[in-house]
Parts: sequence; structure tokens; C-alpha cells
Amino acid sequence: MKGLILSGGKGTRLRPLTHTRAKQLVPIANKANIDYVVEDIVRAGVTDIGVVISPETGEEVKHHLGDGSRFGAKLSYIPQDRPGGLAHAVKISQPFLDNDPFIMYLGDNLLDGGIEHMLETFNKGGVEACILLTKVSNPSSFGVAVRNEAGQIERLVEKPKEFISDLALVGVYLFTPRIHDIIANLKPSARGELEITEAIQNLLEAGFVVNAEEVRGYWKDTGNAADLLDANRLVLSRIQRNILGLVETSEIVGEVQLALGATVRNSSIRGPVSIAAGAVIEDSYIGPYTSIGENARVIRSEIEYSIMMPGATLENLEKRLDSSILGEEAAIIGESHKRNTTQFFLGDRSTVKL
Ligand code: DAU
Repeated sequence: MKGLILSGGKGTRLRPLTHTRAKQLVPIANKANIDYVVEDIVRAGVTDIGVVISPETGEEVKHHLGDGSRFGAKLSYIPQDRPGGLAHAVKISQPFLDNDPFIMYLGDNLLDGGIEHMLETFNKGGVEACILLTKVSNPSSFGVAVRNEAGQIERLVEKPKEFISDLALVGVYLFTPRIHDIIANLKPSARGELEITEAIQNLLEAGFVVNAEEVRGYWKDTGNAADLLDANRLVLSRIQRNILGLVETSEIVGEVQLALGATVRNSSIRGPVSIAAGAVIEDSYIGPYTSIGENARVIRSEIEYSIMMPGATLENLEKRLDSSILGEEAAIIGESHKRNTTQFFLGDRSTVKL
């Protein structure tokens, strides 16, 4: 069994962050999205992995992942000259995939329940593909599946305009090499792409069995800003307190990860929060579900439910920052250093008028 990670594409929905970086490298709780993907595949026992890359962001992805040895994997890079669709990515990867079955995993998807359960069913044999499904409230943004009463897959449609099902295809697929014959006969869709959803539908129509499993735990396609913040929340909600950095006259409450080399002075941190090495927090408040990247600085400011990427700066902000994403080296600098909150310990039946 081989692995295939899709890390090409355009990433337009995450602009401006993806003007300068691959969307698969956007950090979630201070770790690139694609790192979670590689780890998931390796955990499932697959270490020979191809990574599809684009001309725009390929070098950056390569530089970040390297040869894969830090994950216990062997990575091969497969350049895709244009975002021709998920099935196009499989088509160009055929020389690497050879005649092996494979796991295809989209580099901007984040799963918490792992993929071992999918492999268990698939390895029993008799199926040509296995897909992963989950209920969503906006099915028209995804590929969706219709199942019959026995739970078997009947039909798959990519981004249906009219409602046919709320079961979305999650970006993890298992295939036997049969999929290559199907893709060889596929025509571009209305959006000009070779759609993997259509290829799986064609497998069904040719009489082959497609199995489906449901997501365990959570799943996020981190393709837009709100989903990215939510993915950050989900990962942070599972972290455990680990204070390795320097703390001076500060209050650190709950699940906070403070990396070695990070400094917190005269501040209040309410977990879950992840603070990376080299970050400096001074005279500030960091609220729940916030990730502070390497060498980022928060000085006389307040922030919560947000992501600060490496080298980002907040200084002298009058208002608390909420639901925000600051890209690498981005800075917001205010003039004053007035804090925006007040603290009370009020006894029973007391009244404060402000
Ligand atoms: O996230 C799940 C959804 O992913 C599924 O429900 C859909 O059926 C599936 O088509 C896909 O939809 P998206 O529109 O979200 O795909 P996107 O264009 O965002 O690409 C997904 C990943 O694959 C992303 O990491 C970029 C990469 N990619 C994409 C294309 C089109 C490539 O490597 N090459 C490509 O040609």
C-alpha cells in the first residue's frame, strides 16, 4: 500500500494567507496542516508516500517536509503542472503508484479519528474503493454520497446544486489500481477538472463495490478562515498543559503549552493556548483557543480565539482581538497601552454601576 498526499491546488479561499504560502502549510496549533496528514498515514502503517505539488508552492512544501525521515516515512514529490483536479493528480501519479493499492489524502483536511478503521475494511478485499463520509450543513460545497437503506453507496455527486444528501465526502480515499482505468476515460467537469467523485461514481456504474466509513471524531477542510480557526480550536481542545518556557509574574490557567524558549511576563494566559518557541508575551492577555507562532510578540495587548503565525506582532492594542488570523511577520501596532478590561470580585447582592 502506498500513500498519496495532494498538496497542489490554488488555495484561493484562504487568500491573502495563501498568496505567500501553500494552504497545506498553514499552521494549526503551531503545526502545519500537512504534518497531521503525514502522521495519520504513517500511523496507519503506510510509509511510502507521494506528495503532489504545484509549480507555485511545491518548493516550499518540499522544504518543509523534506525526505520524510522525521515522520518515519519516505516521501517522493510529484509535480503537477496545473490544478487539473483530484483525479488528474492521481493520473499523473500513476508511475509512482504503480500497481499498488493506495490511500489518497487531501493536504488541507484535518481528521482526528485516524484512518485505521477504513483500512481494516478495505484490506478484507472485495471493494475497489473506500470513501469516508460525514454529515455537513452545507453539502453543496462538497462531494456528496447517497446511500440506500442497507447503507450501500448508490450515487456520488460533486458539489450538487440541488439537495440530494447531507453526507459529504471527506478528503481521504482508498483505491485499488482499478481506479486508473476509470480515470483514463474521465472527461473534465463543468469546472474544467478531472473529478475524483465522478471517477468513483463511474466505478459504481461499472458494477464495482465502493465501501463507505463514517468519520470518527472531528473532520475539517481547512480551506477558509472560519474553518481554520475552528480547526485550531479542535486541536487545542485536546492539548495538555506543558510549561517549558519562562514565566515571570504571570497567571497561566488550564491547558497551556509553552515551548522552551518562549517567555511570558506580567501576563494572563487562559488555556487552551499554544505558544511556540521564541514567542514573547508581555503585559498581555491570551484567551482560549489561541495559537501564538514562533518568535511572535504580544506586548500590552489582548487576543483570543485566534492564530498568530511566526514572527507576527501585536503591540499596544486598545481593543481585544478576537477570531483573527495574523500571517507571518504581520503586525498590528496601536498607540496607547490602555487595557480594555476591568476585574471585580463582587460579593453577594452587590451592584456596580459603570
Ligand atoms: O475536502 C473535501 C472535498 O475535497 C470533497 O468533499 C470534494 O468531493 C473534493 O472534490 C474536494 O473538494 P475541494 O473543492 O475542497 O478541493 P480543492 O480544490 O480544495 O482541493 C483539495 C486538495 O487537493 C487541496 O489540498 C489542493 C489539492 N489539489 C487540488 C486540485 C484541484 C491538488 O493537489 N491538485 C489539484 O489539481
